[in-house]
Amino acid sequence: MTNPSLLILPGDGIGPEVMAEVRKIIDWYGAKRGMVFDVSEDLVGGCAYDAHGTPLTDETMAKAQEVDAVLLGAVGGPKYDKLDFSVKPERGLLRLRKEMDLYANLRPAQCFDALADFSSLKADVVGGLDIMIIRELTSGVYFGEPRGIIKEGNERVGINTQRYTESEIARVARSAFELARKRNNKVCSMEKANVMESGVLWRDVVQEIHDAEYPDVELSHMYADAGAMQLTRWPKQFDVIVTDNLFGDLLSDLAAMLTGSLGMLPSASLGAPMANGRPKALYEPVHGSAPDIAGQGKANPIACILSFAMALRYSFDQGAEADRLEQAVEAVLADGLRTADLIGEEGREPVSTAEMGDAIVAKLDASL
Ligand code: IPM
Ligand code: MG
Repeated sequence: MTNPSLLILPGDGIGPEVMAEVRKIIDWYGAKRGMVFDVSEDLVGGCAYDAHGTPLTDETMAKAQEVDAVLLGAVGGPKYDKLDFSVKPERGLLRLRKEMDLYANLRPAQCFDALADFSSLKADVVGGLDIMIIRELTSGVYFGEPRGIIKEGNERVGINTQRYTESEIARVARSAFELARKRNNKVCSMEKANVMESGVLWRDVVQEIHDAEYPDVELSHMYADAGAMQLTRWPKQFDVIVTDNLFGDLLSDLAAMLTGSLGMLPSASLGAPMANGRPKALYEPVHGSAPDIAGQGKANPIACILSFAMALRYSFDQGAEADRLEQAVEAVLADGLRTADLIGEEGREPVSTAEMGDAIVAKLDASL
């Protein structure tokens, strides 16, 4: 049997620093659990543009299509702000999502007990929070045509198109219902059916898939703006939230802050099963490249490490090992270790990115 394969794309900004800590975890699983991965590494984003004039080469794209899972750090930075849209670092990530057809983006928002006091919301509102946002990732206004900036008379007009086909809605709805069955059996679908036709269709299709295939799952619908309000008012009313690409982008940043820091949240982007039965998959932290703190050892590696835990669970069927890694993270936080993003007014000394990674490895050792 060949080893499972991983393509690592650290990217820009804090991406390489946090990925270095994930490497320690991957090595630990090889050495201590006999789970050896064939790891290759490549460029994506601004660093790929610097090296090759494109944020993602065709060779890297082809590699991503072949491996069992892709792990990505972060892309982008102020240095690339003025670049043409077609070669911006973000286009590298969007191309991966689109060409791998990773339509279901799983963004869990879990509040670790040790951090409940750190959220900007009251501890009783977020304590024990465990929700999952499923964001449609390959369609909607991110990709709809026509798009562009055109000239109309003597002024410019910016155009993007929100577009969803029935089948695009149906497949992400199924992902949400399947996942809900493994959790608390509840799905809330969010759109703007009060103002957008694409929202009307979204609501109808989600309801149809529910009635025909998942009548056992509790389904509700909410306008996305009201959903944002409810997420901050009483987030524990939700289990699985399914929503479109743009609303999902916004709502998942909001949900992330419920848990204390954007530096904590992992994500999995999943597509259809490959020949070996594993889904096409890319794992990445929800946070960005944080250029302001890059290269200083201040970044929190936990989101990226928890993204690898999601890879263990969703690509490699190693739920127990994913639990082990999540518990190691929880234990380190319970010990009081905090990277700079998790320090509030209390004036605690932050640990560095590498110290956090090492502490998690030590907890993994202790778990054996
Ligand atoms: C995210 C990010 C990306 C997005 C950017 C970097 C293209 O904000 O993954 O949430 O908008 O999807
Ligand atoms: Mg985002």
